[in-house]
Amino acid sequence: MPAIGVFDSGVGGLSVLKALQDVLPFETFIYVSDAGYAPYGERDVAHVLTRSQAIAHYLRDVRHAKALVVACNTATAAAIADLRLRYPALPIIGIEPALKPAAALSKTGRIGVMATRSTLESEKFKGLLASQPANIAFITQACDGLAAAIEQGDQKRIQSLCTRYTQAMGPFGNEKGHIDTLVLGCTHYAFATETITDLIGPGIQLLEGGVPVARRTRALLEEIGSVNTAVAHPPRTHSCTLELLTTGAGEPLQNAAYRWLNEKTPVQQIDTATGS
Ligand code: DGL
Repeated sequence: MPAIGVFDSGVGGLSVLKALQDVLPFETFIYVSDAGYAPYGERDVAHVLTRSQAIAHYLRDVRHAKALVVACNTATAAAIADLRLRYPALPIIGIEPALKPAAALSKTGRIGVMATRSTLESEKFKGLLASQPANIAFITQACDGLAAAIEQGDQKRIQSLCTRYTQAMGPFGNEKGHIDTLVLGCTHYAFATETITDLIGPGIQLLEGGVPVARRTRALLEEIGSVNTAVAHPPRTHSCTLELLTTGAGEPLQNAAYRWLNEKTPVQQIDTATGS
């Protein structure tokens, strides 16, 4: 059975991979971290588009992936339309900030959105924002440097950046005029939820997009009869099979995969230019 390709600029997409493994337990996944060309969120759109094209080419044309999950809000905004034109027969699933679910949940009508600068400045995000109910206020915050700090596992910097950005958006709470719902619009930020919750309080709802993306992936694969439901022979000791690949240093991905997914699969380095 061919694999499902998943990519992000770095370790953030592991938060989506975790949800994918839960809903598609007998699949093989190839995860590509584009750490050699990251972060995406403060780079120009052309860079993110070119990198997304190179990784999609590797996953589809070289590795024959049966579906592609763009586990990065920034890459989805910059490249998903182009990727769908290039590969019309391939199920391609992207991720975007969960504004609609947040609008349905919020009682105060004030919602915070943390995302990369590139995502917030994209036409795709502006369109999404414009389609939300007019009585809801979205307070957007470009979180420069936060994805990089999470990539490096730099706790001190994560703490100081989260403090700065949540203070800039606040106040948080359940009273009128307070933000009661916070959208994490970058897959990296899912790995800073503890720090963020400590700062804004446990009563604030945090929303990220991994689970809906995983469900959508499963639904699309079901439509084309491509879900792998059979247990492998001989039975696997681990339900999902996984390849962890990176275009950069292996250590951040190895550490993050172990810490967050309890995954010990050795990380391999690849060159997406040559596909080797
Ligand atoms: N994880 C990516 C996202 O969801 C962006 C991180 C980066 O800036 O590279 O937007």
